[in-house]
Amino acid sequence: MKRKRSVVTSSGGAAPYAGPPRLGLRPPRPRPVPPGPGARGSDVPKSVASPPGARSSSAAWPRHGTGLAPGVSPLEPAPIDLSVDLAPRRPGTLVLQNPVMVASGTFGYGIEYGEVVDVERLGAICCKGTTLKPRLGNEPPRVTETPGGMLNSIGLQNPGVEAVIERYAPLWASWQVPVIVNVAGESIEDYVSVVERLEGVSGVAGIELNISCPNVGRGGLQFAVDRDAAAAVTSAVRRATELPLIVKLSPNVTDVRPIARAIQDAGADAISAINTLSGMAIDRRSGKPLLGNVYGGLSGPAIRPVGLRIVFEVAQVVDIPIIAIGGIASLDDALDYLAAGATAVQVGTAIFADPEVPLRIVDGLRASCAERGLTSHLPLVGTALPARPNRPSAKGVEYRP
Ligand SMILES: Cc1cc2nc3c(=O)[nH]c(=O)nc-3n(C[C@H](O)[C@H](O)[C@H](O)COP(=O)(O)O)c2cc1C
Repeated sequence: MKRKRSVVTSSGGAAPYAGPPRLGLRPPRPRPVPPGPGARGSDVPKSVASPPGARSSSAAWPRHGTGLAPGVSPLEPAPIDLSVDLAPRRPGTLVLQNPVMVASGTFGYGIEYGEVVDVERLGAICCKGTTLKPRLGNEPPRVTETPGGMLNSIGLQNPGVEAVIERYAPLWASWQVPVIVNVAGESIEDYVSVVERLEGVSGVAGIELNISCPNVGRGGLQFAVDRDAAAAVTSAVRRATELPLIVKLSPNVTDVRPIARAIQDAGADAISAINTLSGMAIDRRSGKPLLGNVYGGLSGPAIRPVGLRIVFEVAQVVDIPIIAIGGIASLDDALDYLAAGATAVQVGTAIFADPEVPLRIVDGLRASCAERGLTSHLPLVGTALPARPNRPSAKGVEYRP
Protein backbone atom coordinates (compact mmCIF):
# COMPACT_ATOMS: atom_id res chain seq x y z
CA MET A 1 0.00 0.00 0.00
CA LYS A 2 1.46 3.33 -1.01
CA ARG A 3 1.89 6.04 1.59
CA LYS A 4 -0.07 9.17 0.87
CA ARG A 5 2.02 12.29 0.61
CA SER A 6 1.08 15.24 2.75
CA VAL A 7 1.11 18.29 0.51
CA VAL A 8 -0.74 21.58 0.63
CA THR A 9 -2.21 24.02 -1.82
CA SER A 10 -1.36 27.68 -1.52
CA SER A 11 -5.00 28.30 -0.74
CA GLY A 12 -4.68 26.16 2.36
CA GLY A 13 -5.50 22.74 0.93
CA ALA A 14 -8.83 22.76 -0.89
CA ALA A 15 -10.85 19.60 -0.30
CA PRO A 16 -11.50 17.56 -3.44
CA TYR A 17 -14.72 18.64 -5.15
CA ALA A 18 -17.49 16.49 -3.70
CA GLY A 19 -20.30 17.32 -6.11
CA PRO A 20 -22.83 20.11 -5.98
CA PRO A 21 -24.09 21.13 -2.52
CA ARG A 22 -27.09 19.09 -1.40
CA LEU A 23 -29.64 21.75 -0.53
CA GLY A 24 -32.69 19.55 -0.80
CA LEU A 25 -33.40 21.10 -4.18
CA ARG A 26 -34.02 19.31 -7.44
CA PRO A 27 -30.94 17.65 -8.93
CA PRO A 28 -29.36 19.46 -11.87
CA ARG A 29 -31.14 18.74 -15.13
CA PRO A 30 -28.90 17.16 -17.75
CA ARG A 31 -27.88 19.86 -20.21
CA PRO A 32 -28.27 18.98 -23.85
CA VAL A 33 -24.94 18.07 -25.40
CA PRO A 34 -24.56 19.20 -29.02
CA PRO A 35 -25.70 16.60 -31.54
CA GLY A 36 -22.90 14.76 -33.26
CA PRO A 37 -21.77 11.56 -34.88
CA GLY A 38 -22.66 9.47 -31.83
CA ALA A 39 -26.32 9.92 -32.73
CA ARG A 40 -25.80 8.53 -36.21
CA GLY A 41 -25.20 4.88 -35.45
CA SER A 42 -23.41 3.18 -38.30
CA ASP A 43 -22.06 6.47 -39.65
CA VAL A 44 -19.65 6.61 -36.75
CA PRO A 45 -16.16 5.68 -37.91
CA LYS A 46 -14.40 2.96 -35.95
CA SER A 47 -11.72 5.41 -34.94
CA VAL A 48 -14.17 7.62 -33.06
CA ALA A 49 -16.96 5.19 -32.19
CA SER A 50 -15.77 4.58 -28.66
CA PRO A 51 -13.78 7.00 -26.57
CA PRO A 52 -10.18 5.96 -26.35
CA GLY A 53 -9.51 5.97 -22.65
CA ALA A 54 -12.93 4.72 -21.58
CA ARG A 55 -12.45 2.34 -18.65
CA SER A 56 -13.86 -0.66 -20.46
CA SER A 57 -13.23 -1.15 -24.13
CA SER A 58 -16.39 -3.29 -24.40
CA ALA A 59 -18.65 -0.63 -22.88
CA ALA A 60 -20.76 1.35 -25.34
CA TRP A 61 -19.77 4.99 -25.59
CA PRO A 62 -22.61 7.21 -24.34
CA ARG A 63 -21.12 10.08 -26.35
CA HIS A 64 -24.15 12.25 -26.32
CA GLY A 65 -26.22 10.62 -23.63
CA THR A 66 -26.63 11.97 -20.13
CA GLY A 67 -23.84 9.80 -18.77
CA LEU A 68 -26.08 8.94 -15.79
CA ALA A 69 -24.97 5.64 -14.30
CA PRO A 70 -27.57 2.84 -14.29
CA GLY A 71 -29.18 2.47 -10.88
CA VAL A 72 -28.41 6.05 -9.85
CA SER A 73 -31.47 7.66 -8.33
CA PRO A 74 -32.55 10.79 -10.21
CA LEU A 75 -32.91 12.50 -6.81
CA GLU A 76 -29.28 11.95 -5.80
CA PRO A 77 -26.53 13.79 -7.65
CA ALA A 78 -24.61 10.92 -9.22
CA PRO A 79 -20.97 10.58 -8.21
CA ILE A 80 -18.62 11.92 -10.84
CA ASP A 81 -15.84 9.64 -12.04
CA LEU A 82 -13.17 11.52 -13.99
CA SER A 83 -10.86 8.53 -14.22
CA VAL A 84 -9.34 7.64 -17.55
CA ASP A 85 -7.39 4.64 -18.81
CA LEU A 86 -4.49 5.90 -20.90
CA ALA A 87 -3.34 2.44 -21.94
CA PRO A 88 -6.46 0.48 -22.86
CA ARG A 89 -4.28 -1.93 -24.89
CA ARG A 90 -2.86 -3.12 -21.56
CA PRO A 91 -5.85 -2.47 -19.28
CA GLY A 92 -5.34 -1.20 -15.79
CA THR A 93 -1.66 -0.30 -16.21
CA LEU A 94 -2.15 3.47 -16.46
CA VAL A 95 -5.50 4.55 -15.00
CA LEU A 96 -5.52 8.21 -13.93
CA GLN A 97 -7.91 9.53 -11.27
CA ASN A 98 -8.59 12.49 -13.56
CA PRO A 99 -7.51 13.54 -17.05
CA VAL A 100 -5.41 16.59 -16.09
CA MET A 101 -1.65 16.08 -16.24
CA VAL A 102 1.32 18.43 -16.12
CA ALA A 103 3.54 18.65 -19.18
CA SER A 104 7.18 17.66 -19.39
CA GLY A 105 9.68 20.44 -18.72
CA THR A 106 7.19 22.66 -16.93
CA PHE A 107 6.83 20.86 -13.60
CA GLY A 108 10.37 19.62 -12.95
CA TYR A 109 10.33 16.23 -11.22
CA GLY A 110 7.15 16.96 -9.28
CA ILE A 111 8.91 17.89 -6.05
CA GLU A 112 9.64 21.51 -6.98
CA TYR A 113 5.95 22.45 -6.69
CA GLY A 114 5.21 20.32 -3.61
CA GLU A 115 4.80 23.35 -1.36
CA VAL A 116 2.30 25.14 -3.57
CA VAL A 117 0.38 22.41 -5.38
CA ASP A 118 -1.29 19.31 -3.98
CA VAL A 119 0.41 17.07 -6.52
CA GLU A 120 -1.62 14.07 -5.37
CA ARG A 121 -4.73 15.62 -6.91
CA LEU A 122 -3.22 15.72 -10.40
CA GLY A 123 -4.05 13.06 -12.97
CA ALA A 124 -0.34 12.42 -13.60
CA ILE A 125 3.02 14.15 -13.74
CA CYS A 126 5.28 14.05 -16.81
CA CYS A 127 8.78 14.77 -15.59
CA LYS A 128 11.52 16.69 -17.41
CA GLY A 129 13.03 14.96 -20.46
CA THR A 130 15.51 12.31 -19.36
CA THR A 131 18.50 11.15 -21.38
CA LEU A 132 21.03 8.35 -20.99
CA LYS A 133 23.84 10.68 -19.89
CA PRO A 134 23.57 14.00 -18.00
CA ARG A 135 23.13 17.06 -20.24
CA LEU A 136 24.05 20.65 -19.44
CA GLY A 137 21.64 22.03 -22.01
CA ASN A 138 22.05 24.93 -24.44
CA GLU A 139 23.90 28.21 -24.20
CA PRO A 140 21.95 31.03 -22.51
CA PRO A 141 19.78 32.99 -23.07
CA ARG A 142 17.40 30.04 -23.13
CA VAL A 143 13.96 31.60 -22.75
CA THR A 144 12.15 34.70 -23.90
CA GLU A 145 8.56 35.86 -23.71
CA THR A 146 6.59 36.16 -26.96
CA PRO A 147 3.06 37.41 -27.70
CA GLY A 148 0.76 34.85 -26.06
CA GLY A 149 3.57 32.51 -25.16
CA MET A 150 7.27 31.88 -24.76
CA LEU A 151 10.24 30.49 -26.62
CA ASN A 152 12.55 28.05 -24.87
CA SER A 153 15.77 26.38 -25.89
CA ILE A 154 16.62 24.58 -22.66
CA GLY A 155 18.30 21.82 -24.65
CA LEU A 156 17.16 18.93 -22.46
CA GLN A 157 19.23 19.84 -19.43
CA ASN A 158 18.88 16.89 -17.07
CA PRO A 159 21.03 14.82 -14.71
CA GLY A 160 20.73 11.59 -16.74
CA VAL A 161 18.66 8.49 -16.15
CA GLU A 162 20.79 7.03 -13.32
CA ALA A 163 20.50 10.21 -11.25
CA VAL A 164 16.77 10.49 -11.96
CA ILE A 165 16.24 6.93 -10.70
CA GLU A 166 18.37 7.50 -7.63
CA ARG A 167 17.10 10.98 -6.67
CA TYR A 168 13.44 10.98 -7.57
CA ALA A 169 12.02 7.48 -8.11
CA PRO A 170 11.95 6.54 -4.39
CA LEU A 171 9.82 9.61 -3.67
CA TRP A 172 7.57 8.97 -6.66
CA ALA A 173 7.05 5.41 -5.39
CA SER A 174 5.57 6.88 -2.19
CA TRP A 175 3.02 8.96 -4.15
CA GLN A 176 -0.36 7.85 -5.41
CA VAL A 177 -0.10 10.14 -8.45
CA PRO A 178 1.54 8.34 -11.38
CA VAL A 179 4.80 9.82 -12.64
CA ILE A 180 5.51 9.33 -16.32
CA VAL A 181 9.14 9.69 -17.35
CA ASN A 182 9.67 11.74 -20.50
CA VAL A 183 12.53 10.11 -22.44
CA ALA A 184 14.76 11.70 -25.06
CA GLY A 185 17.70 10.46 -27.11
CA GLU A 186 19.83 10.97 -30.18
CA SER A 187 19.56 7.44 -31.53
CA ILE A 188 17.20 4.51 -31.20
CA GLU A 189 19.80 2.81 -29.02
CA ASP A 190 19.76 5.82 -26.67
CA TYR A 191 15.99 5.64 -26.22
CA VAL A 192 16.08 1.88 -25.72
CA SER A 193 18.89 2.10 -23.14
CA VAL A 194 17.03 4.71 -21.08
CA VAL A 195 13.79 2.74 -21.18
CA GLU A 196 15.52 -0.53 -20.30
CA ARG A 197 17.01 1.21 -17.28
CA LEU A 198 13.57 2.49 -16.20
CA GLU A 199 11.88 -0.89 -16.61
CA GLY A 200 10.78 -2.27 -13.25
CA VAL A 201 11.85 0.84 -11.29
CA SER A 202 9.32 1.43 -8.55
CA GLY A 203 7.75 4.88 -8.92
CA VAL A 204 7.92 4.93 -12.73
CA ALA A 205 4.35 4.57 -14.00
CA GLY A 206 4.96 4.98 -17.72
CA ILE A 207 7.08 6.41 -20.50
CA GLU A 208 6.44 9.43 -22.68
CA LEU A 209 8.78 9.46 -25.69
CA ASN A 210 9.93 12.89 -26.77
CA ILE A 211 10.72 12.12 -30.39
CA SER A 212 11.30 15.78 -31.32
CA CYS A 213 15.01 15.10 -31.03
CA PRO A 214 17.62 15.02 -33.79
CA ASN A 215 18.57 11.53 -34.92
CA VAL A 216 22.36 11.85 -35.18
CA GLY A 217 22.55 8.73 -37.33
CA ARG A 218 20.34 10.41 -39.96
CA GLY A 219 21.99 13.79 -40.26
CA GLY A 220 20.04 15.29 -37.38
CA LEU A 221 16.60 14.68 -38.90
CA GLN A 222 14.11 14.62 -36.05
CA PHE A 223 12.44 11.25 -35.41
CA ALA A 224 9.08 13.03 -35.12
CA VAL A 225 9.08 14.45 -38.65
CA ASP A 226 9.61 11.17 -40.47
CA ARG A 227 7.01 8.42 -40.40
CA ASP A 228 9.50 5.56 -40.65
CA ALA A 229 11.84 6.99 -38.02
CA ALA A 230 8.93 7.62 -35.64
CA ALA A 231 7.69 4.06 -36.13
CA ALA A 232 11.18 2.59 -35.75
CA VAL A 233 11.89 4.28 -32.43
CA THR A 234 8.40 3.45 -31.13
CA SER A 235 8.63 -0.23 -31.99
CA ALA A 236 12.17 -0.55 -30.61
CA VAL A 237 11.04 0.99 -27.31
CA ARG A 238 7.87 -1.11 -27.34
CA ARG A 239 9.97 -4.26 -27.53
CA ALA A 240 12.12 -3.03 -24.65
CA THR A 241 9.40 -2.29 -22.10
CA GLU A 242 6.14 -3.47 -20.64
CA LEU A 243 5.51 0.01 -19.23
CA PRO A 244 2.64 2.04 -20.70
CA LEU A 245 4.08 3.93 -23.67
CA ILE A 246 2.98 7.39 -24.78
CA VAL A 247 4.58 8.92 -27.88
CA LYS A 248 4.60 12.71 -28.23
CA LEU A 249 3.99 14.28 -31.63
CA SER A 250 5.74 17.30 -33.07
CA PRO A 251 3.64 19.99 -34.77
CA ASN A 252 6.54 20.80 -37.11
CA VAL A 253 5.32 18.60 -39.96
CA THR A 254 3.11 19.06 -43.00
CA ASP A 255 0.71 16.22 -42.25
CA VAL A 256 0.85 14.57 -38.85
CA ARG A 257 -1.69 11.83 -39.62
CA PRO A 258 0.53 9.21 -41.27
CA ILE A 259 3.05 9.68 -38.47
CA ALA A 260 0.37 9.22 -35.79
CA ARG A 261 -0.91 6.08 -37.53
CA ALA A 262 2.58 4.63 -37.79
CA ILE A 263 3.18 5.28 -34.09
CA GLN A 264 -0.07 3.53 -33.18
CA ASP A 265 0.77 0.58 -35.43
CA ALA A 266 4.24 0.37 -33.86
CA GLY A 267 2.66 -0.35 -30.47
CA ALA A 268 2.19 2.96 -28.62
CA ASP A 269 -0.51 2.88 -25.94
CA ALA A 270 -1.36 6.57 -26.33
CA ILE A 271 -0.32 9.65 -28.26
CA SER A 272 0.39 13.05 -26.75
CA ALA A 273 0.24 16.17 -28.92
CA ILE A 274 1.80 18.64 -29.28
CA ASN A 275 5.39 19.50 -28.50
CA THR A 276 6.58 23.07 -29.13
CA LEU A 277 6.59 24.80 -32.52
CA SER A 278 9.95 25.70 -33.94
CA GLY A 279 10.61 29.46 -33.72
CA MET A 280 13.19 32.17 -33.12
CA ALA A 281 13.55 35.71 -31.78
CA ILE A 282 15.86 38.62 -32.63
CA ASP A 283 17.74 40.68 -30.06
CA ARG A 284 16.79 44.17 -31.30
CA ARG A 285 19.81 45.86 -29.79
CA SER A 286 22.32 43.66 -31.59
CA GLY A 287 20.18 42.57 -34.53
CA LYS A 288 21.36 38.99 -33.83
CA PRO A 289 19.42 35.89 -32.80
CA LEU A 290 18.34 36.33 -29.20
CA LEU A 291 18.52 32.72 -28.02
CA GLY A 292 21.94 31.17 -27.49
CA ASN A 293 20.77 28.22 -29.56
CA VAL A 294 19.24 30.54 -32.24
CA TYR A 295 16.11 28.36 -32.48
CA GLY A 296 13.64 27.73 -29.69
CA GLY A 297 10.31 26.00 -29.09
CA LEU A 298 7.19 28.14 -28.99
CA SER A 299 4.61 27.25 -26.34
CA GLY A 300 1.68 28.85 -24.51
CA PRO A 301 -1.77 30.09 -25.58
CA ALA A 302 -0.42 31.23 -28.97
CA ILE A 303 -0.06 27.60 -30.10
CA ARG A 304 -3.48 26.41 -28.93
CA PRO A 305 -5.22 26.59 -32.32
CA VAL A 306 -2.40 24.51 -33.82
CA GLY A 307 -2.69 21.95 -31.03
CA LEU A 308 -6.45 21.78 -31.48
CA ARG A 309 -6.14 21.23 -35.22
CA ILE A 310 -3.58 18.46 -34.71
CA VAL A 311 -5.62 16.67 -32.02
CA PHE A 312 -8.69 16.93 -34.27
CA GLU A 313 -6.79 15.42 -37.21
CA VAL A 314 -5.12 12.67 -35.20
CA ALA A 315 -8.40 11.68 -33.51
CA GLN A 316 -9.74 10.78 -36.93
CA VAL A 317 -6.99 8.31 -37.75
CA VAL A 318 -6.09 6.54 -34.50
CA ASP A 319 -8.12 4.73 -31.87
CA ILE A 320 -5.68 4.90 -28.97
CA PRO A 321 -6.13 7.70 -26.39
CA ILE A 322 -4.92 11.18 -27.29
CA ILE A 323 -3.49 13.47 -24.62
CA ALA A 324 -3.81 17.10 -25.71
CA ILE A 325 -1.05 19.61 -24.99
CA GLY A 326 -0.62 23.16 -26.23
CA GLY A 327 -1.58 26.44 -24.62
CA ILE A 328 -4.04 25.05 -22.08
CA ALA A 329 -4.62 27.70 -19.41
CA SER A 330 -8.27 27.26 -18.40
CA LEU A 331 -11.16 24.81 -18.16
CA ASP A 332 -12.55 26.09 -21.46
CA ASP A 333 -9.26 25.34 -23.21
CA ALA A 334 -9.35 21.80 -21.84
CA LEU A 335 -13.00 21.35 -22.88
CA ASP A 336 -12.13 22.49 -26.42
CA TYR A 337 -9.46 19.81 -26.64
CA LEU A 338 -11.88 17.15 -25.34
CA ALA A 339 -14.35 18.19 -28.04
CA ALA A 340 -11.56 17.82 -30.62
CA GLY A 341 -11.00 14.21 -29.54
CA ALA A 342 -8.60 14.20 -26.56
CA THR A 343 -9.41 12.06 -23.52
CA ALA A 344 -6.82 13.78 -21.31
CA VAL A 345 -4.85 17.04 -21.29
CA GLN A 346 -1.47 18.32 -20.16
CA VAL A 347 -0.93 21.83 -18.84
CA GLY A 348 2.52 23.29 -19.57
CA THR A 349 3.56 26.92 -19.91
CA ALA A 350 0.48 28.19 -17.99
CA ILE A 351 2.00 26.63 -14.85
CA PHE A 352 4.82 29.20 -14.89
CA ALA A 353 2.29 32.01 -14.43
CA ASP A 354 -0.02 30.13 -12.08
CA PRO A 355 0.88 26.66 -10.72
CA GLU A 356 -2.71 26.09 -9.60
CA VAL A 357 -4.14 26.07 -13.14
CA PRO A 358 -4.12 22.24 -13.46
CA LEU A 359 -6.05 21.70 -10.21
CA ARG A 360 -8.52 24.45 -11.09
CA ILE A 361 -9.18 22.59 -14.34
CA VAL A 362 -9.77 19.35 -12.39
CA ASP A 363 -12.29 21.08 -10.11
CA GLY A 364 -13.87 22.93 -13.01
CA LEU A 365 -14.24 19.76 -15.05
CA ARG A 366 -15.98 18.01 -12.17
CA ALA A 367 -18.31 20.96 -11.69
CA SER A 368 -18.95 21.15 -15.41
CA CYS A 369 -19.90 17.44 -15.53
CA ALA A 370 -22.24 17.95 -12.55
CA GLU A 371 -23.90 20.91 -14.27
CA ARG A 372 -24.45 18.86 -17.41
CA GLY A 373 -25.76 15.88 -15.43
CA LEU A 374 -22.81 13.74 -16.52
CA THR A 375 -21.06 11.17 -14.35
CA SER A 376 -17.88 11.29 -16.42
CA HIS A 377 -16.14 13.62 -18.85
CA LEU A 378 -15.99 10.93 -21.54
CA PRO A 379 -19.28 11.92 -23.24
CA LEU A 380 -17.60 15.28 -23.95
CA VAL A 381 -14.83 13.60 -25.93
CA GLY A 382 -14.95 14.02 -29.68
CA THR A 383 -18.15 16.05 -30.01
CA ALA A 384 -16.48 18.21 -32.69
CA LEU A 385 -15.38 15.26 -34.80
CA PRO A 386 -17.07 14.70 -38.13
CA ALA A 387 -19.24 11.64 -38.70
CA ARG A 388 -16.70 10.39 -41.21
CA PRO A 389 -13.01 11.10 -40.81
CA ASN A 390 -11.57 13.62 -43.26
CA ARG A 391 -9.51 11.81 -45.82
CA PRO A 392 -5.85 12.78 -45.61
CA SER A 393 -5.26 15.15 -48.47
CA ALA A 394 -2.19 15.52 -50.64
CA LYS A 395 -2.11 19.14 -49.49
CA GLY A 396 -1.68 18.05 -45.89
CA VAL A 397 -3.37 20.49 -43.56
CA GLU A 398 -7.00 21.01 -44.54
CA TYR A 399 -7.35 24.74 -44.79
CA ARG A 400 -7.90 27.29 -47.51
CA PRO A 401 -6.27 30.61 -46.76
C1 LIG B 1 10.63 25.28 -20.57
C2 LIG B 1 10.07 24.10 -21.30
C3 LIG B 1 10.73 22.88 -21.27
C4 LIG B 1 10.19 21.78 -21.96
N1 LIG B 1 10.86 20.58 -21.89
C5 LIG B 1 10.31 19.49 -22.52
C6 LIG B 1 10.94 18.22 -22.42
O1 LIG B 1 11.96 18.03 -21.73
N2 LIG B 1 10.38 17.16 -23.08
C7 LIG B 1 9.23 17.32 -23.83
O2 LIG B 1 8.74 16.35 -24.41
N3 LIG B 1 8.60 18.52 -23.91
C8 LIG B 1 9.12 19.59 -23.28
N4 LIG B 1 8.48 20.81 -23.37
C9 LIG B 1 7.24 20.93 -24.16
C10 LIG B 1 6.00 20.85 -23.27
O3 LIG B 1 5.92 19.63 -22.57
C11 LIG B 1 4.72 21.05 -24.11
O4 LIG B 1 4.62 20.01 -25.05
C12 LIG B 1 4.71 22.38 -24.84
O5 LIG B 1 5.27 23.40 -24.03
C13 LIG B 1 3.30 22.81 -25.28
O6 LIG B 1 2.44 22.95 -24.18
P1 LIG B 1 2.12 24.37 -23.47
O7 LIG B 1 1.79 25.34 -24.54
O8 LIG B 1 1.02 24.11 -22.52
O9 LIG B 1 3.39 24.76 -22.77
C14 LIG B 1 8.99 21.92 -22.69
C15 LIG B 1 8.33 23.14 -22.70
C16 LIG B 1 8.83 24.24 -22.02
C17 LIG B 1 8.09 25.54 -22.05
